[in-house]
Amino acid sequence: MDLHGLALPNRIWMSAMTRARATADNRPTPLMAEYYARRATAALIVTECTAVSEQGKGVINGPGLWREDQIGGWRMVTNAVHAAGGRIFCQLWHCGRVAHPDMRRGVLPVAPSPLPAEGKFKFPDREADFPIPRELSAEEIPAIVADFAAATRNARGAGFDGVELHAANGYLHDQFLQDISNKRTDAWGGAVENRARLILETVEAMAGAWSMDRVGVRLGPSISLYGMGDSDPLTTFGYVVRELDRRRIGCLTMLEPNKKDLEKGIAIEQVAKTFRPMTTAPFIANTGFDKAKGMNVLRSGDADAIAYGSLYIANPDLVARFKADGPLNKPDPHTFYGAGPKGYTDYSTLTANEEAA
Ligand SMILES: Cc1cc2nc3c(=O)[nH]c(=O)nc-3n(C[C@H](O)[C@H](O)[C@H](O)COP(=O)(O)O)c2cc1C
Repeated sequence: MDLHGLALPNRIWMSAMTRARATADNRPTPLMAEYYARRATAALIVTECTAVSEQGKGVINGPGLWREDQIGGWRMVTNAVHAAGGRIFCQLWHCGRVAHPDMRRGVLPVAPSPLPAEGKFKFPDREADFPIPRELSAEEIPAIVADFAAATRNARGAGFDGVELHAANGYLHDQFLQDISNKRTDAWGGAVENRARLILETVEAMAGAWSMDRVGVRLGPSISLYGMGDSDPLTTFGYVVRELDRRRIGCLTMLEPNKKDLEKGIAIEQVAKTFRPMTTAPFIANTGFDKAKGMNVLRSGDADAIAYGSLYIANPDLVARFKADGPLNKPDPHTFYGAGPKGYTDYSTLTANEEAA
């Protein structure tokens, strides 16, 4: 697959996954370089969500990309991935209301409207309700867009092959887009054109900092996480997908609903089938795929590639395992987030298994 001049050796992407192994001040570590380099046979790695600013932080020990030392940390990661023959995009992100003041020096998270996220913020030792976020003023929003442009410049400087705007999963851009979380009456709320403005302006700013074909976008029209939803998802997301297509973004990743979303009765059950015809952008489907399901979707033409999430946690050599129809390691949810190599860099490869046998 050719991604605007970037030769991808297969159609198996590694989906963005937070693993919370950066330093307390949000700098990537050598262990992260090892983790990503071990997964370099993926067609393309998309990093864990990476905050564009102090205000955008919503993960304890999550990485950022707004300081010089963070650029240096990420350069170590991209060098390791490239040395191992891989390609890597940085997922850029602002958490919006999905954060807690206790992990942000007491500062309230911000959002389009003063409505708390559903669910709990998880600290290592406790859970807490999400607070009522502070409503952003219209005057503050251009600075957030500028943060995404700056982080894109930093990503380029750090040696990434491209960037992905995280506009899914109930974070800031999704909060502006969907009408359950956006009750504004100014130019950033109300009509879909206004609710989509943050995504579209951010994408344009990111492209201005690099190039439109290096900018991917992730959308989740059927994701109920953190209490998300929209009264007319087909119109809302259809508008965004078409507008992104008009701007010729580099690629579009869209999430299928998971079991929880389906139980909640979300409106669009087949995301790739519904939205693929609305765009000419390279289309990547995600959520719930194994090898067989992925091959079916690729064969049907509903996607150009599949992004695998949890399978990549436990199978660094997922491409080789799919090729060989080999056995798959099972991921351990207890080590998804947190410190150290356990459950992070210690999952075996098929070759390691053979050598041990
Ligand atoms: C531990 C973990 C962390 C995740 N972190 C992120 C993230 O930082 N950004 C993101 O867009 N999605 C994140 N996701 C969602 C995955 O990218 C993916 O959409 C999800 O796991 C569904 O794909 P799968 O069925 O192949 O696992 C995360 C998922 C897991 C399991």
